Amino acid sequence: MFSSFLSSLLLLLLAVVYANAEIQYQDFVVKEISVKRLCKTHQVITVNGQYPGPTLTATDGDTLVIKVTNLARYNITLHWHGIQQIRNGWADGPDYITQCPIVPGATYVYKFTIINQEGTLWWHAHALWLRATVHGALIVYPKLGKPYPFDKPQREYPIILGEWWNRDPNEVLRQATITGAGPNVSDAYTINGRPGDLFPCSNQGTSIFPVVSGETTLFRIINAAMNTELFVSIAGHHMTVVAADSAYTKPFTTTVILLGPGQTTDVLVTADQPAGRYYIAARAYASAQGVPFDNTTVTAILEYKFSSCTAIHGVQTMPPPLVPLLPAYNDTSTATAFSAALHSPGPVNVPDPVNETLFFTVGLGLLGCPPGMVCGGPNGNRFAASINNASFVLPSTLSMLQAYYFNVPGVYTEDFPPEPPIMFDFTANNISLSLLQPVQGTKVYRLKYGSAVQIVFQGTNIISGEEHPMHLHGYQFYVLATGFGNFNPDVDTEKFNMVDPPERNTIGVPVNGWAVIRFIADNPGVWLLHCHIDAHLMWGLAMAFIVENGEGDDQSLLPPPLDLPVC
Ligand code: C2O
Repeated sequence: MFSSFLSSLLLLLLAVVYANAEIQYQDFVVKEISVKRLCKTHQVITVNGQYPGPTLTATDGDTLVIKVTNLARYNITLHWHGIQQIRNGWADGPDYITQCPIVPGATYVYKFTIINQEGTLWWHAHALWLRATVHGALIVYPKLGKPYPFDKPQREYPIILGEWWNRDPNEVLRQATITGAGPNVSDAYTINGRPGDLFPCSNQGTSIFPVVSGETTLFRIINAAMNTELFVSIAGHHMTVVAADSAYTKPFTTTVILLGPGQTTDVLVTADQPAGRYYIAARAYASAQGVPFDNTTVTAILEYKFSSCTAIHGVQTMPPPLVPLLPAYNDTSTATAFSAALHSPGPVNVPDPVNETLFFTVGLGLLGCPPGMVCGGPNGNRFAASINNASFVLPSTLSMLQAYYFNVPGVYTEDFPPEPPIMFDFTANNISLSLLQPVQGTKVYRLKYGSAVQIVFQGTNIISGEEHPMHLHGYQFYVLATGFGNFNPDVDTEKFNMVDPPERNTIGVPVNGWAVIRFIADNPGVWLLHCHIDAHLMWGLAMAFIVENGEGDDQSLLPPPLDLPVC
């Protein structure tokens, strides 16, 4: 009697758990459509004909099954940026790292479970420059009954910051690959696909976010731009930052936020100003001196509902929206002050002590000019970029994860250096020309399962220093400290925040400065680490980790799905 009561209780409990965790099926069809932007009609590659692509919403614990059909003319893969893909790198997506691309006409089903993650993430293409238009929000809600750690806002909007070229971005990439010069800068930034009314023909092409006086809105802001870190402000309003990269933060209030490509930031905005219209605006944080960038401003409108002028005269006769003050393009102190203000909500378990201490220089370089090639970079060279002087080259015959799992030799080498081949004054003004030339290769660094890893990212001033948003696949990490100049362990170790460092998946390494991260290597597989500025990624600012299997039952890489593309 009592035991049958217990077992029905157990069944009920199981039912509740399973009712909460859902399996979601989605069809993603990659195809080209025409869209009108900046007074012209353009062909744009999209998912399901939407630009930006569909917003995925899920609850922590859900399994997503996304069938991707490629009807476009390029090879493609999709990446679920920030989803850890525990033991399941097969669904991670970067082309030639975890899978061969999905060729035109083919399909692949990405199947993954969201495990103990919630907040704002996104998905994007991870091949060529397709992610310029193939991207969308991925919002993970907390498990049933688990509230946000702040008062529930009355409404939520995703804001996707994008970067727009008046031509096929993959052609921009192709041209830069041929010439060895820097790629053409973009023609506009976008908010949810629209450049805003500071551009011609954009009066009807502005994103509008309705709000109600006195109520609070959660904006889930995603920087999906290709090559540009962006400052964002809202005229007349404060923003309370509550999360970044799908990890909650200690709330703080600011008038400007900074997002590097790949990063997300959640802010609460209370409509506490006179009813009216206010611009939400974004423009570049261009940390590299003398490097061309797109200096345009994208706008959207925060619009109070039921404001008297809307009701009586309609939108046309309303006073023009207020424009917010944005920091100067080169305002590094505002940029770094914002990043430094991020903390975890309370004390966290920082991996300590560490058993892998890595020192990675990140920066640009130059490759000499091989005979017969066009070399449009500085002094007749070709642009390159590297980590520890190793300039990453994607394999082309097989993905690294397939090569690792099936023991196929010749796809990569295991000699990625844990520190730069020579030490020099990384952030000096005139770095010797002999230090400019990186070595190309597909090198990985092996990590034992469960090792506590520390990486010091050291920006270099080779050619020009720049803030590099470094993204690690497969993990969230803690950011212990950032600073300027050369990292000095004797002094800088004391600056480590061992109490409440922020948790992220992408960290901006300050221009001519450094950043220190830590994580436990407990997700076996092959994981890409790269600069999320695609102009730098194409030049080789990347490397990959192999994280070995552990000995426990649940500590090894799962077998690949049967439909995994072959090269
Ligand atoms: Cu957001 Cu390797 O990617």
